[in-house]
Amino acid sequence: TSRGPVKPPMDSGLFVGFLLLLSIAARGSSVSTPLVLWHGMGDNCCNPLSMGSIKKMVEEEVPGIYVLSLMIGKNVVQDTENSFFMDVNEQVAFACDKLGQDPKLKAGYNAMGFSQGAQFLRAVAQRCPYPPMNTLISVGGQHQGVYGLPRCPGESSYICDWIRKKLNSGAYTDAVQKHLVQAQYWHDPLNDDLYIQHSLFLADINQERVVNDTYKKNLMSLKKFVMVKFLQDSVVDPVVSEWFGFFKTGQAEKAETLQESTLYKEDRLGLAEMDKAGKLVFLASEGDHLQFSRAWFNATLLPYLR
Ligand SMILES: *[C@@H]1O[C@H](CO)[C@@H](O)[C@H](O)[C@H]1NC(C)=O
Ligand SMILES: *[C@@H]1O[C@H](CO)[C@@H](O)[C@H](O)[C@H]1NC(C)=O
Repeated sequence: TSRGPVKPPMDSGLFVGFLLLLSIAARGSSVSTPLVLWHGMGDNCCNPLSMGSIKKMVEEEVPGIYVLSLMIGKNVVQDTENSFFMDVNEQVAFACDKLGQDPKLKAGYNAMGFSQGAQFLRAVAQRCPYPPMNTLISVGGQHQGVYGLPRCPGESSYICDWIRKKLNSGAYTDAVQKHLVQAQYWHDPLNDDLYIQHSLFLADINQERVVNDTYKKNLMSLKKFVMVKFLQDSVVDPVVSEWFGFFKTGQAEKAETLQESTLYKEDRLGLAEMDKAGKLVFLASEGDHLQFSRAWFNATLLPYLR
């Protein structure tokens, strides 16, 4: 019997298809760094109009990525309430605990915080080095706090009106500090001493009372610290806080940049050194607080997640 040419095990088109499938599977499992999200004031982990859609968008754009949107509390109602009323230091400890227990984050993660969630995630970076945070993306965060609450995002305006009154009548009293989240990043440039002595959260993470070398070392171990400022922001006052700037002390009109601040000049947080190493990224977006398009997100923030 004559033997024909040896037949390939499969049709070559099929074979190419098989290789393609293998490479797609390999890409899917070539683990992209997980992403942790922290929502803003009056929001929650899973709102389909905010964090829910961001999570979905990232999952669509970065196949196989693990995205954890932090829920502070047991359910979305608690999570939303806690964004107004839970001691921020306790919130940060709660988040650290969650991240530490998540086996998928063991090898490290990137973090993206929205509005106040951004400064809270910076506190996570400074206080909780394990698991390691690689890149921190701050989307409209207030790293030097706020002095004013001109407008509330979303539908919580009645709560905001109430909060505004409390803040104006005594942000640095112990009762208000303990129970009002926004008081804990209230930064009154006219009463610098009060701020330094009584701000339970922001003055601590910004090294206003003592310089904690651990905070500095931990923050400096970030690969990148990306800060997005919204050019037409009508919620955050002053807007330059989104780039870690603030009012010059003693008045509330003239602002200074991070680079002009004593925090930077004394380098209490390692930011000057990070800046020189090219680790600080300052981005601007047209639009009001947290208003951006998918195309902008795609082009501007996704490269840090891939
Ligand atoms: C510095 O920060 C670390 C981490 O949060 C903390 O354990 C330590 O007590 C802090 N030290 C001071 C002097 O505040
Ligand atoms: C975002 O980028 C992806 C490709 O990575 C593309 O498929 C998608 O259409 C883009 N979306 C927008 C709105 O630009």
